[in-house]
Amino acid sequence: MPLIELKGIEKEFGSARNRTKVLRSVDLTIDRGQTICVVGESGCGKTTLGKILAGLSTYSGGSYLFEGKEVSQLRGADWNRFRTRVQMIHQNPYESLNPSMMVFDMIANPLRRHKGMRKTGELYAEVSRLLELVGLVPVDDFMDKYPAFLSGGQRQRVSIARILALDPDFIVVDEATSMIDTSLRISLLSTLKDIQDRLGCAYFFITHDLALGKYFAAGKKMMIMYLGQVVEEGDTSLLVSSPRHPYTKAILTAARGNTGILEQTAEERYELLGVDIPSFANIPSGCPLHPRCPQCRKGLCDVEHPGLVRLKDGRRVSCLLYNGEEE
Ligand SMILES: Nc1ncnc2c1ncn2[C@@H]1O[C@H](COP(=O)(O)OP(=O)(O)O)[C@@H](O)[C@H]1O
Ligand SMILES: [Mg+2]
Repeated sequence: MPLIELKGIEKEFGSARNRTKVLRSVDLTIDRGQTICVVGESGCGKTTLGKILAGLSTYSGGSYLFEGKEVSQLRGADWNRFRTRVQMIHQNPYESLNPSMMVFDMIANPLRRHKGMRKTGELYAEVSRLLELVGLVPVDDFMDKYPAFLSGGQRQRVSIARILALDPDFIVVDEATSMIDTSLRISLLSTLKDIQDRLGCAYFFITHDLALGKYFAAGKKMMIMYLGQVVEEGDTSLLVSSPRHPYTKAILTAARGNTGILEQTAEERYELLGVDIPSFANIPSGCPLHPRCPQCRKGLCDVEHPGLVRLKDGRRVSCLLYNGEEE
């Protein structure tokens, strides 16, 4: 049984009279210890999906099974257990820590609350272990610090240690390095990978930066989102070496131009048409990309909604160009 199974997840915001659908029919399976990286431009619904996965937000439709149990039906002790096992690292490390609390207490509190640890010696040993795990060493330099004395990267490490105190099975990592100095980014990502190797937690890694996603999800899975929908999903190497969806091709071209991290392939430059990016209030008919897609076929792509189909190489893609290529 997969750890997580989403089927047809929908999310609407707004009042009864003015509703906006932000997630449309999202399907996703995450196994124990797996990493899946979600990439998409700002506002496409990544954080919304991450919050649903972390139990911080409700869904308006579809099904979310955690170890086979529908999350919206969990109550009491089952709900509390779920809420400790799924955790989220937020984007802004300057907002997520209590400014008036020392690092020791930030990590000791969840240990007291969830594990009933009381003895100072025991708490000290466990907080030390967790600080070491996230690379805040020597640990005694950090125990009595307040957030104001920590850098962005160190704050994120404290957030991670606090989460690890709960022994989570699944962690949503939401643009966790975007507010950190570029020079420290890779080191924080290595720490996250290292933690996964040791503890076996699964990650849902959110980024708008395809190059960063490729680095973090190397050898793992990647999922590309556009306007609240999954457009392509599969092995990271497959998606970045031979993208099939026009949107994946376009963001790959853009990422190559920006960073040089992604190697040049024989693939030619692929650019979307320079029209305004549609909003959720006005999602195009048919394929949501069709007004921007250079390969749009009038009478088909603007009419028919492409479902997500699995191709022979195992990836899933939502594009009418590949109708008939399914496995
Ligand atoms: N609480 C909310 N109420 C209303 N609209 C929201 C709320 N949260 C997010 N949205 C809208 O949902 C869309 C997706 O947002 P978000 O999930 O934050 O995107 P991303 O993380 O990919 O940048 C945006 O149009 C945003 O304005
Ligand atoms: Mg976001």
